[in-house]
Amino acid sequence: MMTEQSQTIVAVLGLGTMGHGIVQAFASKGIQVHAYDEWPHARRELLGRVRTILSDFVRVGLHPAGQVESMLSRITVHESMEAACRSATFVVEAVREDLAVKQALLAEVESHVGIDTILASNSSSFPISESGTRLKHPEQALVTHWFNPPHIVPTVEIVPSPLTREDITQAALALHRRIGKQAIVIRREVAGFLVNRVQVAVMREVWDLLEKGVASAEDIDAAIRGSMGFRLAALGPLRIHDFGGLDIQASVYRNLCPQLRSDTTLPTVVEKMVAAGHFGFKTGEGFYAYPPEQADRALAERDERYLALLKLLHADSTPTK
Ligand SMILES: NC(=O)c1ccc[n+]([C@@H]2O[C@H](COP(=O)([O-])OP(=O)(O)OC[C@H]3O[C@@H](n4cnc5c(N)ncnc54)[C@H](O)[C@@H]3O)[C@@H](O)[C@H]2O)c1
Repeated sequence: MMTEQSQTIVAVLGLGTMGHGIVQAFASKGIQVHAYDEWPHARRELLGRVRTILSDFVRVGLHPAGQVESMLSRITVHESMEAACRSATFVVEAVREDLAVKQALLAEVESHVGIDTILASNSSSFPISESGTRLKHPEQALVTHWFNPPHIVPTVEIVPSPLTREDITQAALALHRRIGKQAIVIRREVAGFLVNRVQVAVMREVWDLLEKGVASAEDIDAAIRGSMGFRLAALGPLRIHDFGGLDIQASVYRNLCPQLRSDTTLPTVVEKMVAAGHFGFKTGEGFYAYPPEQADRALAERDERYLALLKLLHADSTPTK
């Protein structure tokens, strides 16, 4: 079994949006990382992408400039999955969200690793009970659900199946906490795990308010950032409720709940945008416009804001090595 004392070697499979940031999150905390993607371009680009992330961390004082090269030297990019997995004590896959692909990949990974290696799937929606159906040792496997951008957002949901051994869950929890992540265990395999369920509940009401013309997109963002978002980032929902007073919260809930949107239809405002190909930042238009000449600036500004919050509230999540 992997212990904190034994040398941890992490393999990251799939080096796209999530995978390259996960590589950085482990390597920046002193862990050897072996990386693989079936797409040669993703393999070639990895070190450059991690270097770019690091320069942002250095710029805001979250990573020592003198330790960039030593951190990069902990990352090895492999030409085959077998080579990437061979010595790993913990393997995390971040390949595309396709159940058949994940099932086949996890079964192949199992054939390349030792009996003690922990297998993790960074899936947004598939519990390991579904993605790990072809595993001979499902007790060694679980979901580790990161949030984008994974090198910045602190939370990682650790989601075991009923078959996962408790010591495997605890080892995965300890590993992610050791790299400064705010890792928590989800005790039941509910759809969407924990955070996405809450996000979708909020999303429905926000989109409904926009559709009804209750406020503009800018005003909705400003209102939520300056109230709910502000308090949530500092305290979390249940502590906020304690400070608000549960008697008050209970009557607000009773009064308002019947007024809120509760159907499961996608609000028309978003349905229309998706049908028109307006997917947000990646297509240049969503609730806001992102003209090509301003796209880099918009992304950099997003990360600056995230990094400022990380620095303020989650100093433990920042790289130290
Ligand atoms: N993007 C997000 O916001 C987000 C957030 C949380 C979780 N996730 C989950 O993370 C996973 C990866 O998502 P992403 O956004 O990074 O996807 P992505 O498309 O950006 O990257 C996936 C990478 O996996 C590689 N790949 C695909 N099949 C492979 C295989 N069989 N072997 C090796 N490499 C393979 C692709 O070449 C690609 O580089 C998905 O399961 C997704 O649901 C994504």
